[in-house]
This record gives sequence, C-alpha cells and structure tokens, in this order.
Amino acid sequence: MRGRHDMTLATQHRPLRESTDLAVRVEGLGKRYGDTAALDGFDLAVPRGTVCGLLGPNGAGKSTAIRILCTLLRPDSGRAEVDGFDVVRQPMHVRYRIGLVGQNSAVDEVLSTRANLEMFGRLYHLSPRAARRRADELLAQFALTEHADQSPRKFSGGMRRRLDLAAGIIMSPPVLFLDEPTAALDPVHRSDVWAGVRSLVAQGTTVLLTTHYLDEADQLADHISVIDHGRVIAEGTPDELKTALGGDQLDIVPAESADLGAARDVLARVTGTEPQVHEAARRLTVPVRNRVNALTETLREMESAGLAVHDVALRRPTLDEVFVRLTGNAPSHESP
Ligand SMILES: Nc1ncnc2c1ncn2[C@@H]1O[C@H](COP(=O)(O)OP(=O)(O)OP(=O)(O)O)[C@@H](O)[C@H]1O
Ligand SMILES: [Mg+2]
Repeated sequence: MRGRHDMTLATQHRPLRESTDLAVRVEGLGKRYGDTAALDGFDLAVPRGTVCGLLGPNGAGKSTAIRILCTLLRPDSGRAEVDGFDVVRQPMHVRYRIGLVGQNSAVDEVLSTRANLEMFGRLYHLSPRAARRRADELLAQFALTEHADQSPRKFSGGMRRRLDLAAGIIMSPPVLFLDEPTAALDPVHRSDVWAGVRSLVAQGTTVLLTTHYLDEADQLADHISVIDHGRVIAEGTPDELKTALGGDQLDIVPAESADLGAARDVLARVTGTEPQVHEAARRLTVPVRNRVNALTETLREMESAGLAVHDVALRRPTLDEVFVRLTGNAPSHESP
C-alpha cells in the first residue's frame, strides 16, 4: 500500500514536534459545497489513546470533517494531520493507520458475513489463515457468529451496523473514525459497541466518533467538541461542558398543577432566569449558579407565597441540556 512517491514525501515533511502526542490535529479546516460552507475554520486536537466525541446538529459538518480526515475528500483550506501524517500530502500513510466506519454501510451484499470480514482482512494483507482467525474473533465480539454464513442483505440495521464496525477494526488501527456508530442500534447492541470501542481504546487506539446520542458521548468520550455551522462552538470534558453551561439545574415540582404559573414567577425572580416549564411532569427547571442559596431562597419564597412544594432537586445538567443551550437545537434522535 505504501507507494514510493509517498515514502519520499514522508521524509520531506517530518511531522511537527508538538504534534507527536496528538493522533489528530486539525487547524482552520474549510470546505465549501457551492454556497454552503460545510466546514469554516474547524479546529481539533485529539491526544493519543483518547476518545473524542464530535457532537452537532444535522448538517453541522461532522461527516465532512471525518471524510477529510480519512482522505476521502480534499479540504479547500487549513490543514489536518492523522497520526503525524498530512491528509493531503501523505494520504497513503494516513490510510494505512486508520479504520473508518462511515455513516453508510460499506459491506458487500453478495458475500457471506464471514467472507466479508475475511475480504477486509485480505485487503489489509493478512494471510488467508490470519484473516479467517481475525474474522472469527470479530464475529464473536459483535455477536454475529451464528449469522456468519448468511449474506448481510437481509440483516436488520443493527446487525449490519455491527458488521460495519467489525470490518472497520480488522487491523486494530491506531486511529479509528466512527461516524454515528450506533445509529439504529437497540440499547443492548449499543452497549456491545461501546464495550468494543472501550477494549480498542484500552489497547491504545485513538477514537474520533460522531454521535447524536448525547449519553453515548457522555459514556465514551474523554473530550467533546460541539460543532455547528462548520466550526467548534464549545469543547471540554463532558463534566466541563456541563459545568461551563450554568452549573447546576434546580428542579421544583409544586404540589398543585394550578400553582405552576405562580411558582414559575418565584423561580424567575429568585434566579434571574426564566425557568423551563414541563407541564406534563408538573416540573420547573432552571440553571442556578449559587446552588445552596438558590435552593433555600426559592423554598422560602415559595412558602411565603403560600405555594406547597411536592419535590425539589439540585442536579448536574444532562448533556442534552448543554447541547440545546449551545446550538439551540434538540438532538435529532431521541436517546433511548
Ligand atoms: N456532497 C455534498 N454536496 C453538497 N452539499 C453537501 C455535500 N455533503 C454535505 N453537504 C452539505 O454540507 C453541510 C455539512 O454536511 P455534513 O454531512 O458534514 O453534516 P453532518 O454534521 O454530518 O450532518 P448529519 O448529522 O446529518 O450527519 C450540510 O449543509 C450538507 O448539506
Ligand atoms: Mg453526518
């Protein structure tokens, strides 16, 4: 797979020193489709051996970024390195070091499931025996052994997704790109995938994944970048993101539905922020900075206004709440 031309380039363009701890380094990436700026000054730095979650609403530019990093698409501007190699100047070196599970399935519909995995192994120059052994390991890991001799043509979305993942990690690549790896998977199979990802990371693989499931990012990602309109609008650990966006959430459930309006006025006055009203749950939610003061003052004001309280809770925001506040969009798939 390594062309001579490519090797020459590798010696000419030694990776920059400071990038040696980074598996992915992106600076000011831009990509337009006609009038649409799919990426517009996109930056990213993913340390080796970590999981980075790329979150963003539909059309934010996530898949475009992944496609550029996997050398499937050329950027218009900026630069990107994967495992120290430039995606534009050294694409073969990059391809040699990555696995990709794209948003759409890439498996062959005529071959059996086992034959598909063996074929991917052979593409990566495994011997027939080694390819067969690896295929068997992956079939077991993704609970596909009993379907090994069937073609994926009649697979459910979840089974196909598991086969895609297995094919993407044939070589335990140093850097793995997963574009919505668990879309359409039921909770059990999502956790199978999560376990698979975790075991790869434990062996040293760096993972960059996109997802609409915020709990997935919360579970898997060491670091999250939120992308909107082609650029990063917030980043940090899941905890940092939750903290940066208004600290704790205060939930109040008045004893009477009829008191929701009056309770909302109390909360708005005490916290200076308009609470969210969840009519069905009879719950009011508002972000608070000074948690204990906000709690005690709210309860005192509720009492002096003659409003009985059924329940009260101070909690960390969910990533969904963070995401909505950042992008103004609800995530496009419901978390199960
Ligand atoms: N081949 C293409 N031709 C024209 N426009 C495109 C093409 N691919 C993507 N776009 C546009 O570029 C923008 C970014 O798309 P991209 O697929 O990267 O978003 P995404 O974040 O992956 O969205 P999703 O969550 O829906 O997968 C969108 O406005 C999209 O319509
Ligand atoms: Mg996409």
